[in-house]
Amino acid sequence: MSKNMIWITGADGHVGTALHKVLPEHGYHVLCTNKEDVDVTDMDAVRLYAEMNRPTVIINCAALTNPSECEANPEEAYKVNAIGARNLATAAERLGAKLVQMSTDDVFDGDSEVPYNEFDNPVPRSIYGKSKLAGERMVSSLCTRHIIIRSSWVYGTGADFVHEFLEADGRIEVASDECAVPTSAKELAKVIMNLIDGTNYGIFHIVCTGGPVSRYEYAVKLKELTGKDIEVKETAGQKHVRPVYSLLDNMMLRICGLEEPADWKESLQEFLKEMR
Ligand SMILES: NC(=O)c1ccc[n+]([C@@H]2O[C@H](COP(=O)([O-])OP(=O)(O)OC[C@H]3O[C@@H](n4cnc5c(N)ncnc54)[C@H](OP(=O)(O)O)[C@@H]3O)[C@@H](O)[C@H]2O)c1
Repeated sequence: MSKNMIWITGADGHVGTALHKVLPEHGYHVLCTNKEDVDVTDMDAVRLYAEMNRPTVIINCAALTNPSECEANPEEAYKVNAIGARNLATAAERLGAKLVQMSTDDVFDGDSEVPYNEFDNPVPRSIYGKSKLAGERMVSSLCTRHIIIRSSWVYGTGADFVHEFLEADGRIEVASDECAVPTSAKELAKVIMNLIDGTNYGIFHIVCTGGPVSRYEYAVKLKELTGKDIEVKETAGQKHVRPVYSLLDNMMLRICGLEEPADWKESLQEFLKEMR
């Protein structure tokens, strides 16, 4: 059976880069675009590219992801995160393609003391979270064959916390009151591949198992696994733009009989081993 033809938008970003590395290794034909090739906020450009290339799956990784930048430029945040998603949703619908919309734990307020599942009501606080939720709603209302994926603390390709730790100059300050689950991009990509090939639709939380973990504990684990001589200093009580507690529960994966990603400590260890 021939594999799906997949169009990844925002392919030079963090998650896009991981996906376009992993998917071809598994035999998928992948088309990658960045902002210069196809600006997702430009409806005509999105339609033209979609009609010319006729992908069977679109994975939307294009986004404005810096929470502080979103607070400073809310219109730009909604334009990219909501209107961009809308444009891809209508293009996918016209083609009868699947749309995989990347989203985030920031759609929750972070006030819960138990993990958030896919049926919990999202209440975003930040512009980033609000604009990503608006994007989710555009996708679910405009594209029949949609899969919305929320993840957290993705690492794997460079501009992430693992690399920030590895590049720290002897000392790193990290919050002990910010909790989520570090998720390996490779593990995320594996689950996305299963979803692309299957017949499940809807919202899926995809995070590594074994959490929650604070940023501080995450840094301490990195220190233990790498043996690096870096002092890890704990901070707390600072103002966070992101939710403080945002543990996502992969409930949909479990109830749909799909495999969850590996434990965060094991995948982190494997990632560091592969880096050497
Ligand atoms: N990384 C994480 O920890 C994480 C966690 C949960 C969810 N997610 C979700 O995963 C998705 C990808 O995140 P990421 O970490 O890969 O973000 P990223 O590294 O910031 O990448 C986003 C990409 O989108 C591109 N882009 C921005 N505006 C665009 C436009 N108008 N048209 C086309 N491309 C545009 C950016 O290009 P420029 O750099 O040129 O602007 C960048 O290459 C997002 O939906 C995010 O919410 C990420």
